[in-house]
Amino acid sequence: MLLLSVLGKCSTIKEEVFTRQSPKLRRMKRHDPMKYGNSDLEGMFVLGPMAAYTDIAFRLLCRHRGAAMCFTEFSNANAIVRNVPESFRLMRTCREEMPVGIQIFGPDEEVMKKAVQKIGERVATGELFASCIDINFGCPSGSVIRAGAGSALLKKPEKIAAIVSACVSASKLPITAKIRAGWNTDNAVQIATLVEKAGAAGLTIHWRTATEGRKRSSGWEVVGEVKRAAGIPVIGNGGANTPERAVQFLRETGCDAVMISSAALGNPGIFGRSNALLNGSELPPPTWEEKLSDFHEYARLAEKFGVLSPKSMRAHAIEFLTGFEGVKLARKRLNAAKTVGEITAIMEEFTPANRA
Ligand SMILES: Cc1cc2nc3c(=O)[nH]c(=O)nc-3n(C[C@H](O)[C@H](O)[C@H](O)COP(=O)(O)O)c2cc1C
Repeated sequence: MLLLSVLGKCSTIKEEVFTRQSPKLRRMKRHDPMKYGNSDLEGMFVLGPMAAYTDIAFRLLCRHRGAAMCFTEFSNANAIVRNVPESFRLMRTCREEMPVGIQIFGPDEEVMKKAVQKIGERVATGELFASCIDINFGCPSGSVIRAGAGSALLKKPEKIAAIVSACVSASKLPITAKIRAGWNTDNAVQIATLVEKAGAAGLTIHWRTATEGRKRSSGWEVVGEVKRAAGIPVIGNGGANTPERAVQFLRETGCDAVMISSAALGNPGIFGRSNALLNGSELPPPTWEEKLSDFHEYARLAEKFGVLSPKSMRAHAIEFLTGFEGVKLARKRLNAAKTVGEITAIMEEFTPANRA
């Protein structure tokens, strides 16, 4: 009920955001309602892609809790082209969760082009659903960088342009890109301009450079710079770890939406709370009962969509415990638990010392 009323007020929300901004930001091109890929978004907070976490069940849970859009975790383009079943498992999407972006990564435009075609074929047959195909140019992990993909490409803006352009030429679905401020210095406006010129329909920018990791705690101004330079929708990302920060990010940068990633783990209610705050009402922080209920809902959806496993249940369970006191023993027991039943029992037996 609350979610419906919050979503129903989104056009008012957008108005408010723009009227509170500086005259310069108010003059910026508006996307009302914001379209990302080929879907209209009904809110301004989206779930970011997270490897090993944002499976179909967690994405649906976040959509039900107010996320305006979700992204799959990234899949390796090379594996898609070779029809590796695991890559299609990671990309599995359903109609109910739309809007959703399917994210891929790879260093080579020819392979990326073929991967995009494969995804397009499955979307055409109704096997996959997607609002866009999102290309990862931000992953800083060693194996991805060694392969010349993810954030390694930020060092080669012309290669990014070639990849986007090849994918756009091969795809009926809109192509979007997720970048960082740069590799070790900020060249985001240059990259964003190239990405747009290459035909991308949207851009997500994480304001930290690839080499900074999470060390830097402030600096989202670059998202505003990119937004002012771009003619395509811009999603800002990085450090939106509370509803207050998420709303502040949106207001201060003028971006079209804010992507919340790690703060949504074990905390899908952050989307409803951010929507509510943007609309002027503050909701109380989540109680353990709310978290446990969301954990059960994750398990129910994971079972329904065939992704229930001790590994993913354990990973999510540990996240749901975050923020409560007295979790040490429960965490230890979760790490030793072997079955979904054991993990569920540990969560049900847990009583937080601080009952947040
Ligand atoms: C566990 C984990 C897995 C991630 N996997 C991906 C991924 O597959 N693709 C991607 O573009 N970003 C990935 N990211 C990066 C996030 O989407 C996001 O850009 C980053 O965490 C900063 O946003 P935040 O401060 O809201 O977490 C991952 C982050 C985490 C914590």
